[in-house]
Amino acid sequence: MNTQNKKPLTILGIESSCDETAASVVHRNLDGTGTILSNIVLSQDAAHAPYGGVVPEIAARAHVTQMDNVVARALREASLDWDDIDAVAATAGPGLIGGVIVGLMTAKAIALVRGLPLIAVNHLEGHALTARLTAGVAFPYLLLLVSGGHTQLQIVEGVGRYRRLGTTIDDALGEAFDKTAKLLGLGFPGGAAVERAAATGNPNRFALPRPLLGRQDCNFSFSGLKTALRNAAHGLGSLSEPDIADLCAGFQSAAADCIEDRARRAMDAFREHHPDHATPVIVVAGGVAANATVRATLERLAGESGFTLHCPPQQLCTDNAAMIAWAGAEHLALGDTDSLDAMPRARWPLDPDAEPAPGAGVKA
Ligand code: KG4
Ligand code: ZN
Repeated sequence: MNTQNKKPLTILGIESSCDETAASVVHRNLDGTGTILSNIVLSQDAAHAPYGGVVPEIAARAHVTQMDNVVARALREASLDWDDIDAVAATAGPGLIGGVIVGLMTAKAIALVRGLPLIAVNHLEGHALTARLTAGVAFPYLLLLVSGGHTQLQIVEGVGRYRRLGTTIDDALGEAFDKTAKLLGLGFPGGAAVERAAATGNPNRFALPRPLLGRQDCNFSFSGLKTALRNAAHGLGSLSEPDIADLCAGFQSAAADCIEDRARRAMDAFREHHPDHATPVIVVAGGVAANATVRATLERLAGESGFTLHCPPQQLCTDNAAMIAWAGAEHLALGDTDSLDAMPRARWPLDPDAEPAPGAGVKA
């Protein structure tokens, strides 16, 4: 059944795949635009900070403790009742499986009790479709997803239709930022702290590598950069504040160069696949999209390459449930729902037909 354009849809979204417990209510209007009615995100940063990274068991337990509360708040802030909700969407993967189970089971319980359709959403699709919620970006477009868990270039062809151009063959970029922060004693999560420290640093003091630069594919690698940074830091012995600033600036500049080179290649690939597209768009999403150097690099590249850069507002680039509700709404509008048997998945590639990236430890 195709329900498109027959009635507005009101969707409850639930997100719990990493360390944010989130719920949101989103309206999909008759003209296909979206309105966020509430967007509750409870960060667990403080619980994980002492360990320098997300501890899956702590995350799952915190989701259990907070989820009901967060869902109730999302409804309250939207000034809606259960009778107003048309469907419930939850992240079913990829992510930390304990957390995914908590969110998906909550959604299934709501769907069962309220007799509502369930949509089991791919978290990456949530990121991928956000630009349609915030700016109505039309298919197809190029997506650069740069988060703590993923670094991918995709062509978003349609709802549920993705062509992966590249992925990281080792660390995600956000993860590399976080490991840099940890090494330099800047806390967790450390991307923003690295950016702050880099502001006063000299990016050219240390000769850091730009892995995979110039390669014909669109894959990323940050492990060699991370190792080179560690060696440079260890070579200095004790680190002064200017040392830390220079190391952060060097790391950030190398990361931006990698992003520029890989995104340029992806723009070429997009044009090969869509030679007649007159106004191509590149969307950047994920927590690292907050980084001003990364954004400025992409802005310049897009300008040079005839692309328009679109970056959703920061609170919708990082993990949230509005993007999950919206992805659910896009599927529901196409009559596409899931059964209560939908499985939580630790791994769930957006493009199942994509060739595996080379190397071990691929997180696609
Ligand atoms: O998308 P996100 O909120 O969660 C994941 O799905 O991973 O991304 C979080 C990541 C973290 O690795 C964090 O350090 C990074 O985004 N991040 C940044 C900045 N703000 C957040 N990285 C670089 N510069 C920033 N300003
Ligand atoms: Zn994410």
